[in-house]
Amino acid sequence: MPIHFSEKDKTFKLDTNNSSYIIAVYEENYLLNLYYGAFIPDSFVPNRAMRTPNASFSPANPVIGEHGFSPDTAPIEYGTSGAGDFRIAALEIENSNGDSVTDIRYTGYKIYDGKKEIPKMPSSYVNSDSEAQTLEIYAEDSVTGAQVTLYYTVFQKYDVITRRVRVTNGSMKKMRLERAMSLCLDLPDMDYDLISLYGCHAKERNIERRPLAHGIQGVESRRGSSSHNQNPFIALAKSGADEDRGEVYGFNLVYSGNFSALAECDFNCTTRVVMGIEPQTFSWELKSGEYFDTPEAVMVFTAQGIGEMSRIFHRFYNNNLIRGRYKTEKRPLLINSWEAAYFDFDADKLVAFAKEAKKLGVELLVMDDGWFGKRNDDTSSLGDWFVNEEKLPGGLSKLIERVNAEGLKFGIWYEPEMISPDSELFRAHPDWCVRVEGREPMLGRNQYVIDMSREDVRNNIWEQMYNVLSQNNIEYLKWDFNRNITDAGSALLPPERKKEFFHRFVLGTYDLMNRLVTTFPNILFENCSGGGGRFDPAMLCYSPQIWASDNTDPIERLYIQFGTSMCYPASAMGAHVSASNRTGYDTKCNVARWGTFGLELDPTKLTENEADIIRRQIKEYHRNYELVNRGDLYRLVSPFENPYRAAWQLVLPDKSRTMVTLVTMREECHQHLIVRLRGLEPNAYYKNEQTGEVLSGALLMNAGLTLTNTAGYTGESVAIYFERV
Ligand code: GLA
Repeated sequence: MPIHFSEKDKTFKLDTNNSSYIIAVYEENYLLNLYYGAFIPDSFVPNRAMRTPNASFSPANPVIGEHGFSPDTAPIEYGTSGAGDFRIAALEIENSNGDSVTDIRYTGYKIYDGKKEIPKMPSSYVNSDSEAQTLEIYAEDSVTGAQVTLYYTVFQKYDVITRRVRVTNGSMKKMRLERAMSLCLDLPDMDYDLISLYGCHAKERNIERRPLAHGIQGVESRRGSSSHNQNPFIALAKSGADEDRGEVYGFNLVYSGNFSALAECDFNCTTRVVMGIEPQTFSWELKSGEYFDTPEAVMVFTAQGIGEMSRIFHRFYNNNLIRGRYKTEKRPLLINSWEAAYFDFDADKLVAFAKEAKKLGVELLVMDDGWFGKRNDDTSSLGDWFVNEEKLPGGLSKLIERVNAEGLKFGIWYEPEMISPDSELFRAHPDWCVRVEGREPMLGRNQYVIDMSREDVRNNIWEQMYNVLSQNNIEYLKWDFNRNITDAGSALLPPERKKEFFHRFVLGTYDLMNRLVTTFPNILFENCSGGGGRFDPAMLCYSPQIWASDNTDPIERLYIQFGTSMCYPASAMGAHVSASNRTGYDTKCNVARWGTFGLELDPTKLTENEADIIRRQIKEYHRNYELVNRGDLYRLVSPFENPYRAAWQLVLPDKSRTMVTLVTMREECHQHLIVRLRGLEPNAYYKNEQTGEVLSGALLMNAGLTLTNTAGYTGESVAIYFERV
């Protein structure tokens, strides 16, 4: 069994195939973390509870006495504020006396097969109860009556442990949550590099790696969304760990709003990691009996390097996070109108796109922004989700009939969380935008954010969307979010609940998304936020794919896709071929075929030669769909480390087939290039599909592929396939 309670040691042991996690119930019912790392058979690790105290400056528990144990230095399982632990707290509650001293102690536990859902929030799931086991640990603050449940679900086969927390007000008085993190982990050393993903619009998820130092470091978002700027992902890699070797911890928050992912190293050279909702922009009032659920955090440990950490996340997300029809069913290959037409389209233009795209092998046409209200540019109409009959006479059904007649499915664009000041909806409901009293709200792309925390607002948007979606043959929906949240407030929230706004907004968005996916289970959803501004695991619970970036330049995309692949699978990575001109179409296609693959260009403007390349690449896409969607990824040469080339490899899980792609970003003076493959069967033989050459897996992985003079010039690329013989 993956979870075991040892009466003798008073420890909980959580095992995956390759990792172990041990929690101890210590004197006075303190919960301590004894271990998280590579699998060990023992259920106890000696001498972990006590670390050198800071002389008389590390306070002692009055019952235990001053014998060396101090909450200041002990590996506390879920750190709280004000009761002797001076590191970043995971939990801080202002009680009815107005103080924030919080101190929780163990009271009991429960172990069961499977996993519960988090009410109103997306999270990972089990396909059957035998896939995972859950431990609930109960703890309580006997002074304030705060009750805490720590949830741990162990996905043994996947080497994943998910965590979350519920805080219940067990007292008769009000209390206020000031912070409630999803995860807190105390590691006994600080010999790690922190890996995080920073970026901005059109340059998302750059990989950044820095050694941990004493003090607090980490990444956060206060933008109301997970953001382009930092992703809710961090990893701690042992100094020297690389793609193939070394110990790595990966942490990813299943949440789309403000987050905090921090590491603090103390004077004992230990590390505390916390991850959860960002506390500066959060507080939550709990009346007697009420509870608060944190979002879920996903933890991965591997001793096999950063590449293996990524593959663990990919497998887990493909199997236990992404859901619905298109989790496994082949998704239609799409063409999107945005870069081809922007706002300048009518029905004839779209039908012409469909006709030409069909000849290329495309299966679905997405009509992007500009089909509703009076929208001809970005200054109006968000919130008016009815068709612009001037642009599309006869309405959507007529257009869709024509597109369907060309043999293509039809998809549509929405930005449900926004409202334009110039819209019928805003004129009717000026109090529906996100704002605070006495301030003119800020604009972003000429638009306001609509108050998704309000049920009446959500119902209005839902009814408008329902009318369109239920009356038309729409088979794909792109959900966009093109600005961040300022002036955070809702007309309906009383002053003492104003700081609940951000989280309530996120819950509102989840509510609307949930209504959509449950009412229209056959629609393929794609998430988007000005490209990849909300590329997080929570969004993957609603949409199996996310538009990775508005930047479709294939060289820039290499960085974006390498970064995104840190924890997100290729199946989720929206990647299109556009008319951008830094490389030819072969390279654009080779890069986009690491992701969902699609087109974002005017197909009527392609030359015969370009159309031929795309047709051939689309055939390759179909042939290798499983390989990309379910394959194991190996990042062979990273553009973040090599200014000249990038290379990656996808391998079917049974190792029978692989695709190796190499892109030259800049020419090197010497062209002698060897790429060593990974993940193959050493004793098996593989046939190069293009040349017919048969080579052993061992040769490909040790001697490597010699690609001298192949794709050696700037912007060139090559994709090579090997099949086991
Ligand atoms: C965002 C998206 C684009 C496109 C536009 C439409 O920028 O990322 O793909 O949908 O909005 O306004």
